[in-house]
Amino acid sequence: MREHAVLLSEKVLDGSPAVREKLYAMTGDKDMRVRYQLAFTLGKIPGPRATAAMGAIIARNVNYGWIRLAVLSSSLGRTGELFAILADDRKYRSTDDGRKFLEQLAEQTGLQNRKDQVAEVLKMLNTFPDKEISKKAAELLGGVKLARREEIVAAYNDVLDMKGDRDRGKAVFKKECSTCHMLENVGFDLGLPLGSIKNRGPETILISTLDPNREVQPQYLNYVCVTDDGLSVTGMIAAESATSITLTRAEGESDTVLRTNIDELANSGMSIMPEGLEKQLSKNDMADLIEYLMSVQ
Ligand code: HEC
Repeated sequence: MREHAVLLSEKVLDGSPAVREKLYAMTGDKDMRVRYQLAFTLGKIPGPRATAAMGAIIARNVNYGWIRLAVLSSSLGRTGELFAILADDRKYRSTDDGRKFLEQLAEQTGLQNRKDQVAEVLKMLNTFPDKEISKKAAELLGGVKLARREEIVAAYNDVLDMKGDRDRGKAVFKKECSTCHMLENVGFDLGLPLGSIKNRGPETILISTLDPNREVQPQYLNYVCVTDDGLSVTGMIAAESATSITLTRAEGESDTVLRTNIDELANSGMSIMPEGLEKQLSKNDMADLIEYLMSVQ
């Protein structure tokens, strides 16, 4: 009942401070399903009060993987603030799961690379008493990987001055991209339309293709789910219910797993769009691909 009440409240959140207050007061609800739903709902409310409430849910549910996951998936744009709140909680950061989650938050912050959130983590690290966490977080935040991605984009920059060939570009698209994107009726539509990407220009295409994790929305994160039988499935979360979860991936393949069969579910912090496409794409291929994507009607 209360679980549904939380869900229903989403419809009136914007207009009703009273409803928001009620939600902030529910972080200690005795029913785990209520806390789980609340974690998602709080993600829809901007501002520090909701972030603090997310922190409270996490701190009280140190050992619950699902709840951590729920909070993580609704924490886009505030991972740094959440890191600061939880890192400040001595009891929380002294638990193994707490440390692990702090590392995850630092890593997400690095991947999402939003200046304000990175600043929150850095500010905290400067004054942080626990040197081990602080060193690890700084490493994760440093985003060694991001830097390398930026170098690759820079190395491909001259592609923007090259003249591509539309037909060859179409073939490149079919080979490398059509497992997840559909254009001119070729490929699998995973819900990521590229038909209007031309309006954002060749440079956006170049960056999105070579550095897919620069700005990734939570719904595109790649999850790994290990079942009780030891099987593992991966993909973006396409659907969730109280009893099951559906992961979908390239070529439109998908699996539905019952929650009771899930041993572990975690996201990699990365988009399902793979990094490293430059290994398959020469500069000529890239120029052809851009020509094609810019020409699609
Ligand atoms: C395994 C699946 C997969 C493959 C293969 C893939 N993509 Fe993507 N692509 C995604 C996902 C998921 C997103 C959205 C999240 C993101 O930006 O990472 C995306 C986003 C994009 C975007 C940004 C769209 C926007 O509106 O911001 C562009 C451009 C793009 N892809 C181009 C390509 C090109 C070009 C290729 C082939 C060279 C390719 N993709 C291959 C899954 C894939």
